[in-house]
Amino acid sequence: MAIRGALALRKRQVLILFVLLGLSQAGPESVRYSVAEETEIGSFVGNLARDLGLGVEELSSREARVVSDDNKKHLHLDLPTGDLLLNEKLDREELCSSTEPCVLHFQVVLENPLQFFRAELHVKDINDHSPTFLDKEILIQISESTTIGTTFLMESAQDLDIGRNSLQNYTVSPNSHFYIKIRDSSDGKIYPELVLDRELDHEHEPELRLTLTALDGGSPPRSGKTLVLIKVLDVNDNAPEFPQRLYEVQVLEDTPIGSWIITISAKDLDAGNYGKISYTFLHASEDIRKTFEINPPSGDVHLRSSLDFEVTQSYTINIQATDGGGLSEECTLLIKVIDINDNPPEVTMSSITKIIPENASETLVALFSVRDKDSGDNGRMVCSIQDDLPFSLKPTFKNFFTLVSEKALDREMRAEYNITITVADMGSPRLKTQHTITVLVSDVNDNAPAFTQTSYTLWVRENNSPALHIGSVSATDTDAGANAQLTYSLLPPQDPHLPLASLVSINADNGHLFALRSLDYEALQAFEFGVGATDRGSPALSSQARVRVLVLDANDNSPFVLYPLQNGSAPCTELVPRAAEAGYLVTKVVAVDGDSGQNAWLSYQLLKATEPGLFGVWPHNGEVRTARLLSERDAPKHRLLVQVRDNGEPPRSASVTLHVLLVDGFSQPYLPLPEAAAEQARADPLTVYLVVALASVSSLFLLSVLLFVAVRLCRRSRAASLGGCSVPEGPFPGHLVDVSGTGTLSQSYQYEVCLRGGTGTNEFKFLKPIIPNLPVHDTGGNTGENENFRNSFGFNIQ
Ligand SMILES: *[C@@H]1O[C@H](CO)[C@@H](O)[C@H](O)[C@H]1NC(C)=O
Ligand SMILES: *[C@@H]1O[C@H](CO)[C@@H](O)[C@H](O)[C@H]1NC(C)=O
Ligand SMILES: *[C@@H]1O[C@H](CO)[C@@H](O)[C@H](O)[C@H]1NC(C)=O
Ligand SMILES: *[C@@H]1O[C@H](CO)[C@@H](O)[C@H](O)[C@H]1NC(C)=O
Repeated sequence: MAIRGALALRKRQVLILFVLLGLSQAGPESVRYSVAEETEIGSFVGNLARDLGLGVEELSSREARVVSDDNKKHLHLDLPTGDLLLNEKLDREELCSSTEPCVLHFQVVLENPLQFFRAELHVKDINDHSPTFLDKEILIQISESTTIGTTFLMESAQDLDIGRNSLQNYTVSPNSHFYIKIRDSSDGKIYPELVLDRELDHEHEPELRLTLTALDGGSPPRSGKTLVLIKVLDVNDNAPEFPQRLYEVQVLEDTPIGSWIITISAKDLDAGNYGKISYTFLHASEDIRKTFEINPPSGDVHLRSSLDFEVTQSYTINIQATDGGGLSEECTLLIKVIDINDNPPEVTMSSITKIIPENASETLVALFSVRDKDSGDNGRMVCSIQDDLPFSLKPTFKNFFTLVSEKALDREMRAEYNITITVADMGSPRLKTQHTITVLVSDVNDNAPAFTQTSYTLWVRENNSPALHIGSVSATDTDAGANAQLTYSLLPPQDPHLPLASLVSINADNGHLFALRSLDYEALQAFEFGVGATDRGSPALSSQARVRVLVLDANDNSPFVLYPLQNGSAPCTELVPRAAEAGYLVTKVVAVDGDSGQNAWLSYQLLKATEPGLFGVWPHNGEVRTARLLSERDAPKHRLLVQVRDNGEPPRSASVTLHVLLVDGFSQPYLPLPEAAAEQARADPLTVYLVVALASVSSLFLLSVLLFVAVRLCRRSRAASLGGCSVPEGPFPGHLVDVSGTGTLSQSYQYEVCLRGGTGTNEFKFLKPIIPNLPVHDTGGNTGENENFRNSFGFNIQ
């Protein structure tokens, strides 16, 4: 089959060859025409009738027509003439592009009978296109150091024409550095290459403008141009240069972060990239990199973190300037940090004694050291504490100080000291640090208890209930704690017979005093003892005070009649001579009262009498006297009931019955009074003495009165006409005035007898009873009562 195919192919080739031969020789079968592109419409291509050997009539009768292979009417058959004309302008580049030759095939069709003739039209190229560059401008960067002969391949231009009309040559505008070299490529195209002919110098001629022209081979030739811009690149032939090798700058320690410090600047003669310098730290330590930063393009050095003179005083930094071509140069930047007083002094306490005993002198309270990180004056320090404290600072060793107490302290004066240690440096401004130590002064038992009074006087009314709180003693102790805890105690009495333990007790804690039993004024009017207060310190201190307890009287004793005796067994009878004058002293009721003071003031009163008005009882001395002259009609026997009453509240009383017998011819010596006195004297020797003394005083007084009267009488007899004193005629005849006292009435009376000439009257002027042992503590009311009593006393005497 393959053989048959090959035979068929050969047969066809032979046939085509035959046709071609036939056309070229006899030619009716296949006709060939040729026309240049861009030929005007209607241009004559050939005479078809003649070329096919047909008559013009046949052409039209057989309706000859031209059918193009591509169904386009490129050609037009003019039937009347048989001419083939161009129906349109042909563009070879459009029809065939770069195919050569460019042939349009068509058939001439005849009918009756149907007959085909093959024909072809060759379209010939004309130089209707110029070479064109795609870019109007081509940029080439060439380093100035490029060696001579270096070629730079250029972009090629395009020309749509073919053959001679296509691109044939390139030229470059005249210049001193480049020439053009045409390079043929394997596909038959040509490329331009720029070849460097002379060295470029950027500094001299930084750029070149060349015109590249592409030429085709048409006649006349067409050309296309493009601009070639050659930038001469600089070569880094200059290293950066610093104007100085060492930069020095001083920076304050407190310069804020981010502050500009210095700008380093180097020069580079190269331009462009090679002249662009970037600055970096060279071999910089981590510390430097943390502290400073350099801006690579500008060379500005800024502070990145805070400086501390106390850590680093200066920094030496190597800075490298590098240009775009890698050439570099170094310089040194020395940054000196200037100290400022930014560190306050520091106080480090090594040992502190917080509590010191008050009796300790010169005690170490604290040991501390001071430090200031600054230098110079900024680091010189002054240490001080408050002036008014009994403490002082002492330098010990280097920057160590001790704080000691200067003397023994007194906790009772001040128990706590706040000592402020101030350390200031000498910088400007001065910085200071304060440290306060609180020192407590501990107590030592150096203060004895102190009673609020050195002696206390307490009053207790007798007949008190047992365990009665009668008063308190109190002491204070200025010490603290146990040293101030007091215990009260009773001290042994001075009088060994005083049964103190059974009388009072003291509460050891609060000093309250209690009467242990009921006190009896009549048995014990006062007693005195000591109390002690002892603190619990070690050794304990104590102090004492005296306590005097006065028992106050209560009216607990009724008057007791001493005379006359009231046993009743031997009723006492008083004898009164009927010749007795008025005011005759019948007897005297003598009574005592165990109480004292007010409670023992006795008053006498006649309660009942057989014959009222005959006898009177003098209220304050108990004297029973006749009130008038006795007469014969008066009954001989009288019974008097006398009441004795004390002045207590409430009053107590006793009564006594007196029997009085009126007798005739009874003379003074028989009076029973001396008997009574003697009887009394037996009972009480003191009374005897008293009676004797009183008797003698009375008789002396009587004697002197008598003498006085006698002298007066004598004078009156001599000068009877002259007035004068006379024997008193009052109810108390002078010779009867009886000043008496008994054991019970310890009052003594002073009487002043004034016998004034010319008045004719005598009067007793009662001055005042002198009453010793009157209780001083009696109230004013009582005193008033005494006053009344005195008044009434005076009144009664008159
Ligand atoms: C191209 O043109 C240059 C200058 O015009 C000429 O010297 C050279 O011979 C030409 N090259 C060709 C292949 O025609
Ligand atoms: C301080 O008092 C205490 C207790 O009373 C005593 O032991 C000590 O010796 C005293 N110290 C001085 C220095 O007097
Ligand atoms: C000492 O300081 C303390 C605490 O600041 C204070 O409570 C106390 O009253 C101060 N004492 C004196 C004596 O100033
Ligand atoms: C009367 O009383 C007194 C004192 O109380 C006494 O001494 C005397 O013996 C008594 N006489 C008679 C008889 O009781």
